[in-house]
Amino acid sequence: MTADVEQTLVLIKPDAVARGLVGAVLSRYEAKRLAIVAMELRTIDGEFADRHYAEHVEQPWYPPLREFVTSGPLVALVLAGSRAIEAVRALNGATDGVKAAPGSLRGDFALSNRENIVHASDSPESAAREIALWFPGLTR
Ligand code: CDP
Ligand code: MG
Repeated sequence: MTADVEQTLVLIKPDAVARGLVGAVLSRYEAKRLAIVAMELRTIDGEFADRHYAEHVEQPWYPPLREFVTSGPLVALVLAGSRAIEAVRALNGATDGVKAAPGSLRGDFALSNRENIVHASDSPESAAREIALWFPGLTR
């Protein structure tokens, strides 16, 4: 393990699970050589969504986001690899599927600013917080 190895929290969101895209999304991360450290199919309630999206709960667009992320099963996973936080954000693409670059997951699979296939931690601090929230038993 080199010093730049990081872990990041990824969600394959309910839209992707409902559309049968779990395998397609996972294969992109695996092709990038990211390692799956933990993975679980979960359905979350509104209170858990509020904790995950704590920084966004006051946004006007949060209520429909809360509805969306609690609407059905999602796949939560922890990925590890060299500079994994930045690498996964790049693979995911910009938040808005319309603006996301073709070739990115959102660019290829999403046409929405909300139902955009995936989530990934955006910094080492959020990765640590989100991994502790979703996988409290995971040793780092
Ligand atoms: O997921 P990412 O870090 O790229 O974006 P964010 O700005 O942290 O927003 C979190 C999530 O909220 C997005 O991935 C969208 O699913 C949702 N969102 C939304 O529903 N409406 C917006 N105007 C912006 C974001
Ligand atoms: Mg974010």
